[in-house]
Amino acid sequence: MTTPLIELVDIEKHFGPVIALAGVSLSIMPGECHCLLGDNGAGKSTFIKTMSGVHKPSAGKILVGGKEVHFTSPRDAMAAGIATVYQDLAMIPLMSVTRNFWMGQEPEKSVGPFKFFDFDKANAITMQEMAKMGIRLREPTQAVGTLSGGERQTVAIARAVYFGAEVLILDEPTSALGVRQTSNVLATVDRVRKSGIGVVFITHNVRHAMAVGDRFTVLNRGKTLGTAKRGEIKAEELQDMMAGGQELAELEGTLGGTV
Ligand SMILES: Nc1ncnc2c1ncn2[C@@H]1O[C@H](COP(=O)(O)OP(=O)(O)O)[C@@H](O)[C@H]1O
Ligand SMILES: [Mg+2]
Repeated sequence: MTTPLIELVDIEKHFGPVIALAGVSLSIMPGECHCLLGDNGAGKSTFIKTMSGVHKPSAGKILVGGKEVHFTSPRDAMAAGIATVYQDLAMIPLMSVTRNFWMGQEPEKSVGPFKFFDFDKANAITMQEMAKMGIRLREPTQAVGTLSGGERQTVAIARAVYFGAEVLILDEPTSALGVRQTSNVLATVDRVRKSGIGVVFITHNVRHAMAVGDRFTVLNRGKTLGTAKRGEIKAEELQDMMAGGQELAELEGTLGGTV
């Protein structure tokens, strides 16, 4: 059996008296798109922030490549190959695609004693990495603010992949997008997965999840309701689970417990 890229076991997270996570387990395999579904307040963001080193779990274990890790900061998680693309994307709209792509990690060239941002190299790599994701930029100097929402998501994803993500966490990447932009982002997720990266795709849109998901985990009030594989569960069932619907007990039986 393949070792998961990352595995979280019985994660609990308490904020004072608030129990945001009450024992959530999940694993991410190489090349899979694992959808994390749940209504607002279910604990999705808290869970991925625990996975990416922002929060320290109150209880539970995190294993990367089968070895236990203790992240003390997002930097630790990034060094272990866990990258997160947050909804706000942390981009500067007036700056170029290249500038945003390289922010904080600019390639330098030396001319005598001086170091310069190597624009030619940065531009060429940015164009190339965006093309790999199916996006043809008019020019790398184009401002990020002139791109569509889906294209901006793709810049953030391409950047994470280029800088070595093994697990890519996407927090609601499609929630603010129209139909065409959504399908572009879903196509990007599919490309990334096929390159062997494990994708954690957070959404509360069941149709978006069904379009690209290999496995589906539903969170409800800080608990996992179960993990199902593609083909084992219907969209309507996922929808009901998210809502904590009446068929819940019956479905838990069908799912046969958590993975
Ligand atoms: N920093 C925090 N302090 C206190 N409560 C929090 C904090 N972060 C999240 N929570 C609570 O934890 C629960 C889960 O929140 P969250 O993980 O943001 O859910 P989701 O992303 O699924 O909408 C909510 O009840 C929320 O109010
Ligand atoms: Mg959230």
